[in-house]
Amino acid sequence: MSLVDIARDGAICILTLQREEKLNALSSELERSLGAALESEEVRSSACVILTGGGRAFSAGADIGEFRDRTPEAVVAYYRDTGGIYERVAALPQPTIAAVHGYCLGGGLELALATDLRIADRTAVFGFPEVSLGIVPSSGGTHRLVRLVGPGRAKELMLIGARLDADAAFAAGLVTEVVDDVRERALELARQLAALPPLAVSLTKQAIDLMPEASREAGILIERLAYGLLAQSEDAQRLADDWGKR
Ligand code: COA
Repeated sequence: MSLVDIARDGAICILTLQREEKLNALSSELERSLGAALESEEVRSSACVILTGGGRAFSAGADIGEFRDRTPEAVVAYYRDTGGIYERVAALPQPTIAAVHGYCLGGGLELALATDLRIADRTAVFGFPEVSLGIVPSSGGTHRLVRLVGPGRAKELMLIGARLDADAAFAAGLVTEVVDDVRERALELARQLAALPPLAVSLTKQAIDLMPEASREAGILIERLAYGLLAQSEDAQRLADDWGKR
């Protein structure tokens, strides 16, 4: 059985981690299931992807049982194999939402950080236990966290090992909303995104992701090229016509 459930709600695809008895700890097998899910027609044809966890957690992080016996060669092989999944989530062309409840730790938080929007309910707990285990967040999380919350907060989370509840995560900018029903709100946001012109959504997402690394000049050029392409799209032409008829 796959460790990731794939469901569709109209144009929205919902991926649910299903290793509930281990709080969705990200074993290689779970990462492989997630990789297969990303390749599925349900994800490919969707306008927005929601990632969530089954049971009482989003994910308690990398599977600690798999840490042992990781030689340097095995680590390199891991990133070539299932360890690349976090970058693949980040590279999805359509918007992604992490709907977080319960523990969202370590690799689980790295997975959430690879999505575009994170929302949480009041049971959510965020943290990075890696340093206390003698390792470091290494699935894009160190890079993404510093970008999102700055080096001071990142050190508080990663070095001091601070655990943030939903309100603290909101104050730190880690999540964009704290809500009562995280799944329902994720669906609402996803429906809102799915109703927008898909090409404009996708190019805007990709442009935003590139901006922090682009020089000002390159960033301005990306904007203009994206505009040049989008202005000719059927959606933009139709919406301009509709506006003119008002
Ligand atoms: N890797 C592997 N198994 C994990 C896991 C992880 N990261 N996190 C939880 N589990 C397993 C537990 O071993 C337990 O399995 P068992 O029932 O077969 O013994 C099951 O999930 C439930 O966890 P448990 O510890 O009993 O739940 P809890 O509510 O008492 O505590 C946590 C929850 C999240 C505080 C605790 O499980 C924990 O600290 N997990 C490790 C978190 C971590 O360090 N993650 C980052 C890794 S880099």
